[in-house]
Amino acid sequence: MKKIWLLALALLCATAHAQSTSDEIAKYREMLADANPADLWEARGEALWKEKRGPKAASLERCDLGLGPGVVKGAYVRLPRYFADVNKVQDVEQRLITCMTTQQGFSLAQATKQPFGAGEKKRSDMEALVAYIAGESRGMKIQPGVTHAKEIESYEVGKKIFFFHGGPYDFSCATCHSASNKRIRLQDLPNLTETAEAQKIYAAWPAYRVSQGEVRTMQHRLYDCFRQQRFPEPVYGSDAITALTMYLAKQAAGGDFNAPGMKR
Ligand code: HEC
Repeated sequence: MKKIWLLALALLCATAHAQSTSDEIAKYREMLADANPADLWEARGEALWKEKRGPKAASLERCDLGLGPGVVKGAYVRLPRYFADVNKVQDVEQRLITCMTTQQGFSLAQATKQPFGAGEKKRSDMEALVAYIAGESRGMKIQPGVTHAKEIESYEVGKKIFFFHGGPYDFSCATCHSASNKRIRLQDLPNLTETAEAQKIYAAWPAYRVSQGEVRTMQHRLYDCFRQQRFPEPVYGSDAITALTMYLAKQAAGGDFNAPGMKR
């Protein structure tokens, strides 16, 4: 198995200059016969979900992701959504933070200490949990909450953020993501204002990132794009990121969810 990986990676590097990265990822995926390393994150996430952890020695099996305590199947595609217990709209990671602090007794600092993994020694529980939860919605329709007043507000705020421009280059998300068939340094720039493209993109996150060797969540993707935009780094689990995710999810509503995916 390891050999195939090395071969695939070598090929990927050797030919990456010639063609668009998306073609290369497609080839890479084919070589792995549709196996996605994200499977390992999903398995670890499931174990973490069931493990009694934290000062209260509780598992997350009573955590309500929106469909009732402990229901994981189909929960991801309904997020972000309004949660009455916190009286606000949450994405999957904010919701996990709520469950980890209230049910397992972790402090906020403990729950968010490694949001993004950095290799074997600094693995992220969040990325694993999100991979597991997302995997349990595979094949289902993307259908975020859009009826509660706070859900509508969150969507409106997200839309404002998407089109808000500023910073040293006066970029907005829309600068790079509101026209089709654009590219930057061989990387396709998806048009996130177009339904079919938004569906395809939203459906694939969280995703195993070949270039990083990690499963990355939507929080990380957006954090990365705020950097592309030369904006200040957003706070992990902030309401602004949830609002932006809500905007993207609504753009993608009705699409078939298919994550964890695989990306450059
Ligand atoms: C300067 C251009 C630029 C700006 C501004 C920008 N992005 Fe991106 N975005 C990119 C590039 C380049 C990629 C692909 C990166 C890659 O493949 O590593 C990307 C990828 C993405 C993806 C994932 C696409 C996929 O293939 O799955 C999403 C979602 C996204 N951006 C959302 C946003 C949002 C939301 C904002 C505003 C906060 C934003 N981007 C701002 C350049 C930009």
